[in-house]
Amino acid sequence: MELAQGGASHARLIHGDALVAAEALCAEGLKAGVRLVYVDPPFASQAAYVHEARLDGPASGRVVRAHAYDDRWEGGTAAYLDMLAPRLEALTRLLTSNGTLWVHVDWRASYLVRIVLDEILGPEAFVNEIVWRRAPNLGRQAASHQFGRTLDTLVVYGMPDAKLVPPLRLEPIEAGAVRFDEQGRPFTSAPRGDYTDASIERLEAEGRVLRTASGKVYVKYFLVKNADGAWCRERRIDALWTDVTPLRHARPGERTGYPTQKPRALLDRIVSCATSPGDLVVDLFAGSGTTGESAHVLGRRFVLGDASSLAIATARARLMRAGASLRVEACSPMSACQGATPRVRIETRERGASVTLIEPTAPLAWAIDSRFDASGPFRVVWHSERAPGARARPAERVAVLEDAPGPIAIRVFYDDGAVATTVLGG
Ligand SMILES: C[S@@+](CC[C@H](N)C(=O)[O-])C[C@H]1O[C@@H](n2cnc3c(N)ncnc32)[C@H](O)[C@@H]1O
Repeated sequence: MELAQGGASHARLIHGDALVAAEALCAEGLKAGVRLVYVDPPFASQAAYVHEARLDGPASGRVVRAHAYDDRWEGGTAAYLDMLAPRLEALTRLLTSNGTLWVHVDWRASYLVRIVLDEILGPEAFVNEIVWRRAPNLGRQAASHQFGRTLDTLVVYGMPDAKLVPPLRLEPIEAGAVRFDEQGRPFTSAPRGDYTDASIERLEAEGRVLRTASGKVYVKYFLVKNADGAWCRERRIDALWTDVTPLRHARPGERTGYPTQKPRALLDRIVSCATSPGDLVVDLFAGSGTTGESAHVLGRRFVLGDASSLAIATARARLMRAGASLRVEACSPMSACQGATPRVRIETRERGASVTLIEPTAPLAWAIDSRFDASGPFRVVWHSERAPGARARPAERVAVLEDAPGPIAIRVFYDDGAVATTVLGG
């Protein structure tokens, strides 16, 4: 299927099934053109997910709820695999020769993803199984008479030339273990471990080998200071990620209310270590658009997609807030997303006019074009949207326009992704 508004925009959001979208991207020339595919598909959790936005805080109980997506599989594992396997296969076709595919799952699906990807790409394409601690071991998990299931798994496969650049972390060194060489450079040392003789020779040439009187070999590690001024050794991060905090500890404003949203810090790490600036990143199970926001902020191009109207609405609002000049496309006609016609009251003033939105009472966002021309695009002269967060702030109800409006169009964006426009005057 062709995309409804294809094109080479750097920031794209596709409403549709991941299989149809991946095939359409291949067909338009992105085959072997994507450096990073990250997906966070349903995990076979047997749950239906609901998006919730509290408008006035818990006390007054004004809550907007909308169906996000379903992760229930009547046919069990076979039905889940029938969904996942062809989508992963189509996504692998997008990868460049140095590209990587990251599949974010948990204990319910990680073993299935390994089998599927071994089948599609071959076991030699396996790169990593990264374990991310997504929650502390508290409450129900801690009291469950088993080890807390507080982890998610990132299964990573790579094309033949793929190379990841794991970031460095700073490990503080006890003051007593810090020494200084003849040039005053701080260092600490450790036994040679599994360094080969050839590596020791290379390190010796760099002045990084210490030999004791008895001939024992130690390797010197030069130190840097952390933000607190403590001397630290730089260490490469391994496949156990305990330093990326859960979403509930993220800065206020990051939470969109979309269920199963992942933290920006997690995607920032993945995008940084798997791509270079300018590379193309694809996520066709994009949910609230975390991958797109990371890619945008880090200077990468991105294509996101999702089958849920609510995900598209959430990601669109989020990416526009982040300043991405976004192109929204559809794999299937968007006509199913027609929302209820908005009701408004317009009062003219000495200069300009005020527009009050009567229905809907709690839209995701609404916008005005005060000189509407049906043959041209909708030009936004005023717009307001619900501010995200655990206690979301509703969109403004009244718009004040400085100039007397001509034919005026009011467009409303609903939580389930539906859009509706009403035109008045003219
Ligand atoms: C776990 S959520 C992704 C959350 C996302 N990583 C974030 O940070 O917000 C999974 C998403 O996959 C979408 N999805 C499920 N089946 C799909 C399909 N066949 N094609 C495209 N998207 C699908 C759901 O609508 C949901 O938004």
